[in-house]
Amino acid sequence: MDYLSLIKSSISIDLDDFVALFNQSLSHTDGLLSQVLDHIKQRAGKRMRPMLILLMAKNFGKVSDVSLNAAVGLELLHTASLVHDDVVDESDERRGQASVNASYNNKVAVLVGDYLLSTALLYVSYTHSEVIVRYLSELGRTLSNGEILQLSNIQNRTISEDAYYDVISMKTAALFEACAVIGAESAGASHEDTMAAREFGKKLGLIFQIRDDIFDYYDSKEIGKPTSNDMVEGKLTLPVIYALNSTDNKEMLELAYKVKDHTVTDEEVAQLVQFTKENGGINYAYKIMDRLHEECMIFIDEYVTNPEIKKSITAYLDYVSERSF
Ligand code: IPE
Ligand code: IPE
Ligand code: MG
Ligand code: MG
Repeated sequence: MDYLSLIKSSISIDLDDFVALFNQSLSHTDGLLSQVLDHIKQRAGKRMRPMLILLMAKNFGKVSDVSLNAAVGLELLHTASLVHDDVVDESDERRGQASVNASYNNKVAVLVGDYLLSTALLYVSYTHSEVIVRYLSELGRTLSNGEILQLSNIQNRTISEDAYYDVISMKTAALFEACAVIGAESAGASHEDTMAAREFGKKLGLIFQIRDDIFDYYDSKEIGKPTSNDMVEGKLTLPVIYALNSTDNKEMLELAYKVKDHTVTDEEVAQLVQFTKENGGINYAYKIMDRLHEECMIFIDEYVTNPEIKKSITAYLDYVSERSF
């Protein structure tokens, strides 16, 4: 069985409930708003975040209405952040179709992103859990903070792994971390179990973003969004950071500064990508992912006892590391 079927095997009914509720949350009768929401609904994402909530809830108890409403809220927050992200990154493709900003324009994308964010708050309020509402609110702040940090990192000369981890911890891992916590919390897990789930979620999120950043170094039709975009946007990610810091190549360092200054040419980006590959940058990133994968396995061995759920959660972890889109 492929990873996605394995993941879904222990949460299939819950996932159907999630999809029904999620689609309902994206329904509206007003002209333009309903058109844009339909556009978004047309192409579902991989649903990594809601699946994590459902898996954690199942593992520590059962999927309840609290888990489902939280899952809808968190997927909406994620969707809102992607709609806004494509404006910020001036990106014209998302999930294999035109992004909202490309199909409509930036104004529409900013406003619909706000609408989605508010809808996220609404669904999380349906959990009637003050703790979960607080998690979501703090999460929204962390995600924005991460994006802003990423922007300010472009302006400075620092090229460090620490700065990279700071950004991805906030912009991506925090969301997976919150999903793991909220899933466990919604099933009434103990404090100790919830804290263990939190670390697991954070590590999953780091793996997820490192894998995503590796995609950018290769051409791919499968992935459904532009590649070779990060450097054009001024962003240096783990593979190139490692390659630059483990060699002492003045010429490549100059190109890296040009990336940050937005003066780099396509040809120079291609040179940096080749330099990264030749100097073990991609392999290094895979090594980091492998280490995190091992740490995640320790959580699974200790905290996931039901064999069916264990199969699904292990498949989730493997999928996050090995996915090809
Ligand atoms: C995209 O997340 C944003 C990143 C953290 C890289 P996903 O790849 O999970 O997006 P969808 O929801 O499946 O489209
Ligand atoms: C996506 O970030 C949005 C968040 C993680 C909040 P990126 O800009 O790095 O990812 P893609 O490639 O557009 O999905
Ligand atoms: Mg971005
Ligand atoms: Mg982007």
